[in-house]
This record gives sequence, C-alpha cells and structure tokens, in this order.
Amino acid sequence: MEFPIPFGWYAVAYSDDISAGDVLPLHYFNEHMVLFRTEDGVATVMQAYCPHLGAHLGYGGKVRGNSIACPFHAWEFNTAGECVNVPYATSIPKQAQGKPCLYSYPVRECNRMIWAWYHPRRLAPLFELDNITELKDPNWSEFDLYEWEINSCIQETGENGVDIAHFVYVHNAREMPKAAITLDGHKRDTDMVTKGPAIDEAGNLDFNKLENSHLTSKNCGPGMTTQVFSRAFKTVMLGTVTPITQNRLILRFAFTKPLDISDSFNILTDGMIAEIVRQVQFDIPIWENKIYRETPLLCDGDGPIAKYRKWFSQFYDDPDAGIIRSVPSADHTITEQRK
Ligand code: FES
Ligand SMILES: [Fe+2]
Repeated sequence: MEFPIPFGWYAVAYSDDISAGDVLPLHYFNEHMVLFRTEDGVATVMQAYCPHLGAHLGYGGKVRGNSIACPFHAWEFNTAGECVNVPYATSIPKQAQGKPCLYSYPVRECNRMIWAWYHPRRLAPLFELDNITELKDPNWSEFDLYEWEINSCIQETGENGVDIAHFVYVHNAREMPKAAITLDGHKRDTDMVTKGPAIDEAGNLDFNKLENSHLTSKNCGPGMTTQVFSRAFKTVMLGTVTPITQNRLILRFAFTKPLDISDSFNILTDGMIAEIVRQVQFDIPIWENKIYRETPLLCDGDGPIAKYRKWFSQFYDDPDAGIIRSVPSADHTITEQRK
C-alpha cells in the first residue's frame, strides 16, 4: 500500500543554493521541475518539460531577464509559465496565448529556504508557512546543514515525534520523555521534557544533578518543523521533509545558534547537534523496513499516535486513498499493510 503524497508547503532548496540567473533541475512530488531565480531575484518553480518539444528546462535553460529560455530552441517562459517569446517565429502559437502553458508552483521564500506548494489537484495554498524570528536575526549563526534520502513517507517519519517509547529504546533516552501535544488546524505543537545533567551559567556540566531539558517542536503542515532546544543555551533547528516520490523523501536538518554564546556553550551546542544527527541513523533502518499497521496494538505507555494519525490525514486530498484512519481501540484487529 502506498500513501498518497500529502499536500502542503515543501522545502525544495536553501535560498543560498541559487543566485539570480541560476537554473537547477528538481525532482520532487513524483514530478520533474525546474527552479530558477530571475534577474530580479524571484525564485520560481515550474514544470520541467518544455511544451514545444519536451526539453527539460533545468538542464541548460538560461535565465533571460525575468523569464527562462529553453535550451533546445530558445522559447521563453515567464514566472507564470506563459510563453513570452519564440525567437524564430512571427508570433506565439495561438494555443499558448493569454494562458500559462507550464504549471508554475506557488512559491514562498522564507526561513532561508525556497518552498513550493504541492497539491495533487493544483489547488492554491490552503495555509501559510510560519516565519521563524531567529532565522531573520543576524545575531544567529549561518545554518549547519545535514540531509538524508530515506525510503519512507512523511506520515511514517513524522510519527516519530509522538512515539514516546522509541526515544528510550532507539535513542537511549534515560527515561520516557513527557510530552504535551497541541493540535490546531494545520499546526501541531509538542513540548517534550527529558532529564539531562545540570548545566550552570558558565556551561559546566554536573552529572550528579539532573534538570529538565525542553524540546519544543512546531509543525506547520506536513513539510516543516521548527525545533527549539532550550536549557541554559538555545538552539533552533529547522527540519524539513520533502517527498521525492510516494515512498522516498529527503529529510533536512538546519541548525542555528546565537553568535554571542561562550566557548563552553558553543562546545555543548555542537555536541548536542552532533548527537541529534547521529541518532537519525538509528531511525532510518526502522523506517525503511517497517510496515504500516493500520490498527496497531497500542499500550497505555505509548504516545498520542492515534491523535497524530488523525491530524495527519487532513493533508490527504483523496479520502478514498485506501487508508483507514480509524482510531485504534482496545479491541485490536491486527491487519498488515505494506507501504
Ligand atoms: S523544446 Fe523547448 S524550445 Fe523547443
Ligand atoms: Fe527517532
């Protein structure tokens, strides 16, 4: 069984990946696309294949002012996907006049990334992205970047955040974290409290004394998570997940920290980032080899998995997509479904 690709905003590149005049091929949402930045600096994501004879605009296409020229016969398309010039013809073909001939994805550029809106029926955006204050603040560091391509789907990898018990058995947490989850439309907030060694103002660790460590996660639709790690120091992680196909995705972690922290806090922060990144390797083989249990056998120590699934189902366009979104009950009927 395959989950459909959920609709939502998805990160397709970091803003720094593409300067004015640059062109890049993209492959996400089971579709081939071109990303280009106009001379005026506008990031555009469009269907890749030229309506003339099918060349991929992302391989050799050239930005001309605020349009892109096809590498094959130099037809030009503006950011709305309209043909604006056929250099060797007396006029633009009638069928291409006054309307786009390539689909141009709704795009936002915020949080130091370029985001495209995916909807299987090409509906206009149904919600907007959160703007993260720290990512606009020059007193926060450049991103420290990590990424993984994983054979899984977003609903499954996202379930990790509410799967409390796995933090102990997969990630070696000292005890079950306590988590409070709030669901509000396309938003999902989680506050997770774990215990860690006490840290004083100078950044010294006291392993004999444990203190609360907070991890707050804010999900904005299926593709964006902001995590704030706060103890004596604060680190912000922008986590993004973008479907390549139904069963393959790219997971990106981008960390930033305040520039004015002491050396010891810098070492602690970097150690924490390295540990978070190291822990992902333990999730990946589980995600890549598991099946999806539609009606899982849950116990009272499990996190709010049923709530999460219900929340996530709002991002599927097709209610008959084959997913039974029943809330698991005490009367468990076990059925197996392959992803
Ligand atoms: S294929 Fe693009 S201009 Fe001919
Ligand atoms: Fe995990």
